[in-house]
Amino acid sequence: MQKKTSFLNKLFKIAGDFITSKFFLRHIDGLKMYEDWAKKEAIPLEEFCNDNDPDIWKETLNFYNQFSNLGSERLRETGVKLGGCGGYPFLYFICRCKKPQTVIETGVAAGWSSAAILKALELNGTGKLYSTDLPYKKRPGAAEAIGILVEDKFRKNWYLDTKGDRQGLPKIVSMVQKIELFHFDSDKSYKGREYAFEVVKEKLADDSIIIFDDIQDNFHFKDLVMEYDYNYKVFEFERKFFGVIHP
Ligand SMILES: C[S@@+](CC[C@H](N)C(=O)[O-])C[C@H]1O[C@@H](n2cnc3c(N)ncnc32)[C@H](O)[C@@H]1O
Repeated sequence: MQKKTSFLNKLFKIAGDFITSKFFLRHIDGLKMYEDWAKKEAIPLEEFCNDNDPDIWKETLNFYNQFSNLGSERLRETGVKLGGCGGYPFLYFICRCKKPQTVIETGVAAGWSSAAILKALELNGTGKLYSTDLPYKKRPGAAEAIGILVEDKFRKNWYLDTKGDRQGLPKIVSMVQKIELFHFDSDKSYKGREYAFEVVKEKLADDSIIIFDDIQDNFHFKDLVMEYDYNYKVFEFERKFFGVIHP
């Protein structure tokens, strides 16, 4: 009887180790423990930005208050269902603070993040945005509506590739010298994130800023910051979390 118990214990231990192993967790999205980790790490966005640059944060809030209403109205008019938005107020804020020359983002959809970045670059008077997207196949009108929130006057500083990360990202990376800001908001699987990071990595520098949206989906962000011993912050925006790697 004793032998049987210890065999069962061993079996449970092996099963338990497997379930919590990195290999297993890389293939399962949306577990509660991912969100718990993000929640535990998150610091207040408003406080952080205001402490760092109160003037730019005030400007960001003005932009946010105007654009969130205008954008929602515009989307309602089109009637097309697109993905949710990234942490676009922070993207505006960080672009105004850091004045990057080269910004790369994955995942455009309606273009909340693209519009915020492009508006900030325009005000900076310098910088270019390179974006990838792969339109939702099953949503009618999604392909035509990509970047619909980006005003025509800002498009001169925008390069958009709609063939997806696998085709578009390596091409974009080959077009730039250095990536100062990278925003990931496309294929949210562990593998999708891992792939994109491998591609952009060669053009990142020590002072680059890297942002991953929806980090509550899996442990990719957590594993990445641990592996490279990166400085990072986690913020909550609209009940989801984004992670920022910074110098
Ligand atoms: C959450 S939305 C992006 C939201 C956008 N950043 C914003 O703030 O408005 C995700 C977008 O990524 C696109 N996408 C999904 N898989 C992709 C892939 N493999 N490569 C590029 N884009 C992808 C989706 O079609 C969708 O348009």
